[in-house]
Amino acid sequence: MVLGLGTGSTATYAVREIGRRVSEESLLISATATSAATGALAVALGIPLRPMGDFSKLDLVIDGADEIDPSLRAIKGGGGAHFREKIAVAASRRTIIVVDSSKPVETLGKFALPIEVHPFALGLVQRQLQRMVATVTLRLKPDGAPFLTDQQAYVLDAKFGTISDPVDLAMRIQALPGVLAHGLFIDLIHEVVIGLEDGVRVEKR
Ligand code: A5P
Repeated sequence: MVLGLGTGSTATYAVREIGRRVSEESLLISATATSAATGALAVALGIPLRPMGDFSKLDLVIDGADEIDPSLRAIKGGGGAHFREKIAVAASRRTIIVVDSSKPVETLGKFALPIEVHPFALGLVQRQLQRMVATVTLRLKPDGAPFLTDQQAYVLDAKFGTISDPVDLAMRIQALPGVLAHGLFIDLIHEVVIGLEDGVRVEKR
């Protein structure tokens, strides 16, 4: 199989387990990493990586999410990797999202929506998002400098309140010049695995 390896603290558990199976069970896979951090972890674990951008075949992506609703629509990008995550998920035959019990919600929007923006368009996108009645914050690193993604772009975290129509919002944000990717994942997720205190719940689309 060809796997897409997600990014974040939850996806890391999956990547580590895949690495264990590659070394202990000679699992025959190759993988695409959705971030430099996951790529470095995969290399350290001995998971064979494909060249970046090679999506000739991708069987399965396993990744985390920041929020997921009952229709398996998600907000992702809390770690700033949603640009590459969305490309991998769009290229994959199947996507499984793994979350803990804090992530499922009835309606998306409590978690601020991450929007990756080319630096040249920062001011423009910020203003246009504010016109869409969002509270917009430029994501910063702990030292106060702007957070930069693997593409050397900025992330705006936009609070819209409850997102009653994620499809419409996704289209409006993607239409803004300078937006590289927003964190709404719609019609892209096939299965969610929810870790609970007393076991695991699986929901499929
Ligand atoms: C990375 O940018 C994200 O899309 C993560 O998948 C998401 O933020 C979930 O991360 P955690 O598993 O660390 O909560």
